[in-house]
Amino acid sequence: MNYELKIMLSTKTIEDIKKAIANYPRKKSASMDALTIAQKECGHLTQDVLLEIASLLEMPPVQLNQVAAFYTMYNKKPVGKHHVQVCTNVSCSLLGSEHIVEFLSKKLGVKKGETTSDKKFTLSEVECLGSCGTAPMMQINDDYYENLTEVKIEEILKGLK
Ligand code: FES
Repeated sequence: MNYELKIMLSTKTIEDIKKAIANYPRKKSASMDALTIAQKECGHLTQDVLLEIASLLEMPPVQLNQVAAFYTMYNKKPVGKHHVQVCTNVSCSLLGSEHIVEFLSKKLGVKKGETTSDKKFTLSEVECLGSCGTAPMMQINDDYYENLTEVKIEEILKGLK
């Protein structure tokens, strides 16, 4: 398939991706590092950004798209300033994560996958975040919030500007 390669990433991000690539015997092994680095700059991964990363990794774009699609930590569409990601996998589910999602949905006035009209919050449901021992839990941007209760969530939301 033909496509036009556009430069979407800054020189610094490209350099950081090249440094990550240097850590692996095969360029495409740095896929997840590269996606994470690019997302830090772009906020979400557009098709143009994915094409540029695939080019740096010298891998077929379709393979990189599959990696980005598989992991919920990669944003395929724009997210709000605070990306609220509630784990609903087994441990969290057993300890009430569905209720946590409903509670947050009511508090924020959005459904799963939606962003508030002021672009402040996006609510997402995600797979296990590796913190099962402190379920139910959620991640907001880079921070984990664990052993969640309604009271805790109220406090967390109040603390977010
Ligand atoms: S099941 Fe929620 S962090 Fe693992």
